[in-house]
Order: sequence, then structure tokens, then C-alpha cells
Amino acid sequence: MLAAAAAAGGGLTAFVYGAHDGRVTALLLLLCGTPVIALSHAFARRQERIRSLARKFTLGIALAIGLVLVAVGVVAALMFVSPHDAFLMAILLAFAGFLAAYSASLLARGLIEDIRAVRDGVVAVGHGRRIADIVTGSSDEVGDLAEAANRMTEQLSVREGERDAAEDARRGVVAAVSHDLRTPLTSLRLLAAAIEDDVVDAGTRQRYVGQMSVHIRSLSALIDDLFELSRLQAGDIQWSMQQVRLDELIEDTVEAMRPHADAKMVMVAAQVPGGVAPAHANPEKLQRVLFNLIQNAIRHTPPDGSVTVAAESKGSVVEVEVADTGEGLPPEERERAFEPFYRGGDAQARTAGGSGLGLTICRAIVEAHGGMIWFVESRAGTRVRFCVPVAR
Ligand SMILES: Nc1ncnc2c1ncn2[C@@H]1O[C@H](COP(=O)(O)OP(=O)(O)OP(=O)(O)O)[C@@H](O)[C@H]1O
Ligand SMILES: [Mg+2]
Repeated sequence: MLAAAAAAGGGLTAFVYGAHDGRVTALLLLLCGTPVIALSHAFARRQERIRSLARKFTLGIALAIGLVLVAVGVVAALMFVSPHDAFLMAILLAFAGFLAAYSASLLARGLIEDIRAVRDGVVAVGHGRRIADIVTGSSDEVGDLAEAANRMTEQLSVREGERDAAEDARRGVVAAVSHDLRTPLTSLRLLAAAIEDDVVDAGTRQRYVGQMSVHIRSLSALIDDLFELSRLQAGDIQWSMQQVRLDELIEDTVEAMRPHADAKMVMVAAQVPGGVAPAHANPEKLQRVLFNLIQNAIRHTPPDGSVTVAAESKGSVVEVEVADTGEGLPPEERERAFEPFYRGGDAQARTAGGSGLGLTICRAIVEAHGGMIWFVESRAGTRVRFCVPVAR
């Protein structure tokens, strides 16, 4: 590159002043350039020893000015320029070099400040700050680097937030499971101790045994639900999917729930037109969803209220709705109702109800079918709707 640049300079001089001057110029450029290039390479090879960016800039400028001053000296000697003119030229060049060094150092200072801002931001993130928030004064590559670092820490902070939320949810589930296991187990222990100690009469013993089987049933239901939920969440889904006639499935489920509804004096009815499209689903799992929703509806509807199950085809999906005329669910609780162990209402209502896994399992089953489940806006009572794909 140096030879090419010297040849170009020489060629230009030859074109204007003749071949001899051209040769001298090319030689002069080559002689002056060689030490500078050699020194630049030497510095570049040892640049890790020059630890400051400002020093590297200064060295580069000093090399360039040195070259120019040497060139002036050589030109003055070769061309018999008067010492007065050569001196003036050297002063002018030194002044130009000083100005170049000044403006370069200004640029370098901005660059160094930006690099320090990036370093400080990254160090602060390393010490636990969530967002780097690096502000640079330029829009060059260092500005891009700062922008990339800011974006990266923002994304990391979002992920960390999600991880914290998941960890909180996991802790909440563990606490809820422990509580729901401990309460019936404590009662069972006390009842068993009373029977064992023979401190109760035959009638009371019979009553205690009845209470014990209620606790055992609720414990097995909780353990079954937990097992099912953990399998669903782990994606362990090996169901056979088939064409399911919803009118028949809903009718059967409503009939199975009728004794339960009658006991609470709640009317339960299916409203499914015969022509509703069949769903692509696993019938047992779909029935499980219907059972959970109808059970919730009956549980939260006072005597003389009603529960209605309806279905309609909507393009590529079938929508099923379970509506009741009960107490309803406030809008702010609707999304939370799908969280594991969420039970609305006061503490008493909570102990009277189930474990709070029903809707979580419903959502997991419906989503495993490629569908969705949600609460629909309603003026009175509750309306839960879910959709599953239509069988092709
Ligand atoms: N139809 C409804 N009307 C009013 N509130 C409801 C209704 N369905 C659900 N909820 C509220 O949502 C909560 C969560 O319901 P979910 O079915 O998940 O649990 P659960 O019924 O309490 O217990 P599980 O279903 O495990 O026996 C309920 O505790 C209740 O507060
Ligand atoms: Mg339920």
C-alpha cells in the first residue's frame, strides 16, 4: 500500500514537472513513509501494553506529525529552499499538527467518556442493578453498543421478573398443598386417636368413622388432581383424540350431575342443538372439563337457581358455555380463578369448597386440545366458555 501511494504521488509529480521530479518524489515518499508504517505496526503489535485509549490516539498523531516534519526537512535540504521559508513551513506544520492533535483529543475524550459510561453501566448490572440505563453522547458504534447493552439488560430483567413470578407461584402451590394435606391429616389423626383410646361411645365412633372417610375421600381427590395437573403441565398427554358428539356428551354429563343439583335444589339443563358440529377431542377429558364447570356452577348457585349448558359451532371451533344464576365472580377475580389453589370468597367458603384446582385442570385440558377457556361478561351469575376444534 505504501509503494502504491508513493508511486501515485510520484506519477502525479511526473505528470506536472517531468519524469526526474516524479522519481525523486516517489523515492522521498517511500523513504519517509517506511519508518512511520514500520513504527505503526510495531505499536499496533504492542498495543495491549498501551493501556489507555487516549495514549494510543496521541501516539498516532505524534507519528503523523513527525513524518510531516521530517518530510519538510528533507524537502528543504533537497530543493535549496531558503532556511527562512523552511523554518516558517515547519512552524506552520507544527501548528497544524497541534490543531489536529487538539481536535483528535476532543473526539477521543467523547469516545472515552462513552466507553466509560458503557463500562460503568455493565459493572452496575453485575452488582445487581436491573437496568443498565447507559446514556452516551453519540450515535456511533459505541452508541450502538450502549443501546444493545440497554436492550439486553431490559430483556434480562423481564426474564428475571418472569422467573421470580414463577418461583413465587411455585412456593404458593407448595404452601397450599401442605396446608390442604395437613388439615385433613390432623383431623384424621385426632379422630383415630379418639377411637383408639376408646373414649367415645358407639354412636360417636360411628360418626367419627364417617368423618374419617370424608377426609380420606377429599385427600385422594386432591392427590388425584395434583397428579393429573403435574402430568398436564409436564406435557405428558397420551390421549386418543376422536370425533365427539357434543350433544350426547353434554346430555350424559348433565344427567350424571342431576342428583347433585337436585340435592341443592338447583335446576340443571342442556341446551344443545342436534346439528352442532362434532369436536376433535378426547371424550373422557372433555367430560372432566364439563364436570368441573357444572360442579362449580351448582356449588355457587343458591336453591331455586339454574345452571344451563349450551354449545354452538363457530367456524373451525365449537364453543361450550356453562352459565349459572348464582353469586357471580367479580371481574378482577376471573383470571386468578384459573390459578392453582385459587379459591375466592372468605375463609369459611374456602374450606367448604374444593381444593381450587378444578379450573386450572380445565384450562390445561382445553389448551392441550388447542382450545381456550375464559369467563364471559355477564350481568347476573357466572358464564364460563371454552372452545375446542371441530373434527374434520
Ligand atoms: N360458577 C362460579 N361462580 C362463582 N365463582 C366461581 C364459579 N366457578 C369458579 N368460581 C370461583 O373460582 C374459584 C376456583 O374454582 P376451581 O374450580 O378452580 O376451584 P374449586 O371449585 O374451589 O375447587 P375444586 O374445583 O378443586 O374442587 C372457586 O373457588 C370460586 O371462588
Ligand atoms: Mg371447581
